[in-house]
Amino acid sequence: MAEASDLQRPSPEKQAILDLAARYVCPGRVNAFKLLGTQPVMGEREGHYFCDLDGRQLFDVHINGGTFSLGHRNPEIVAALREAVDFYDVGNHHFVSEPRARLAETLARLTPGDLHYTVFAASGSEASDIAIKTARRATGRRKILSIVGSYLGHTGLCLAAGDVKNARYFLSDGPEAEFAQVPFNDLDAMRRALSRRDVAAVILETIPATLGFPMPEAGYLAGVKSLCEEFDSLYVADEVQTGLGRTGRMWAVDGYGVEPDILVTGKGLSGGMYPISAAVLSARVSDWLSENGWGHISTFGGSEIGCHVALKVMEILERPGVLENVGAMSEVLGEGLHELQRRYPFLVDVRRNGLVMGLKFDHKLGGPMMTVACYEAGIWAFFAGFDQSVLQFKPGILIDRRDCDELLSRLEKAIRICVARNGPASRGA
Ligand SMILES: Cc1ncc(COP(=O)(O)O)c(C=O)c1O
Repeated sequence: MAEASDLQRPSPEKQAILDLAARYVCPGRVNAFKLLGTQPVMGEREGHYFCDLDGRQLFDVHINGGTFSLGHRNPEIVAALREAVDFYDVGNHHFVSEPRARLAETLARLTPGDLHYTVFAASGSEASDIAIKTARRATGRRKILSIVGSYLGHTGLCLAAGDVKNARYFLSDGPEAEFAQVPFNDLDAMRRALSRRDVAAVILETIPATLGFPMPEAGYLAGVKSLCEEFDSLYVADEVQTGLGRTGRMWAVDGYGVEPDILVTGKGLSGGMYPISAAVLSARVSDWLSENGWGHISTFGGSEIGCHVALKVMEILERPGVLENVGAMSEVLGEGLHELQRRYPFLVDVRRNGLVMGLKFDHKLGGPMMTVACYEAGIWAFFAGFDQSVLQFKPGILIDRRDCDELLSRLEKAIRICVARNGPASRGA
């Protein structure tokens, strides 16, 4: 792994904040970034960029998993937030609320199939937990199936449902009769697991982010959905990273011909400004919402300010040209990335669906190596936790051609830095 260069030695001001965080927030994380060789602390931020406190300007292609999909501090979102705080507060979660009802109506209109009711939460993890609880209630089964290497969140149920490594750490894995995983893109394994007829739901990231965005093979997701129908299990689409226009469609599942029974969204729904997430449920799995008005309660879930902001996010996504831009810019970046791949064999694979992208490098730690090199070249990109040969590469969806050129030129600089620094190691040794 690369040594931190002088460029990355924190200024005294930044060091003071790092020390404070190490003392009071999460020493392990501060130390991990130090060992990685780059320790960003966000300062000013606008559009596709943020500045490290040291002043380095970074093109953000991590965007916190899609949270800043419309850019940092998008002026329209900031205005919506200002408007909201002039009238609303978080609201009372027991009451009916106008922005909550309007946002739920919008989500019902814009989600596929018969998705209808929305249960709001404040984070993707909570929304995933709601999806799991709903699936269990609707089917009377407890078992939840996911894929090896999935990340569905860090609260109770979804932590247990995702990749076991994270769950085991907090003794929150299993029991096996309730949570199981099968390999991605393996329909036979999925059939074997579902055929026991004890699975409440399969919960799937449409393109698994933490696994480095491996693309679903042709027919895989539709195949999973029809297996779910065959064995009376539900299909839950985790669209926390892939939804809200990032693939050029409103939801990534739309491009794979899948109509899920439950869809989970979060991150970008906030406009990057006010936490909100949602589980959108089809009417046929939602009996509990009629039976029990207090079946799920969350003080901050569906806060009125968050709903007002999210309505603006949805309004922007519905504008003519916005989703089309994703497809067009994906092509521009795709062309540039393939040219880089031709010139630099270190870049071995470009995974791309719209602006959901993963760059695979010819080294098992190619992702972290490139995170460091990208920082030096003026990009903030983060590696995939469960496949560290991959760098997640996901620019905001409002980028234009000039942004693409700028990004590609910075990326080329990063690859050169990485290859020069790591020598044969970055060529697959
Ligand atoms: C695919 C996916 N699902 C769920 C979550 C959990 O969202 P949150 O961190 O808002 O709880 C994440 C977070 O990174 C995610 O990437």
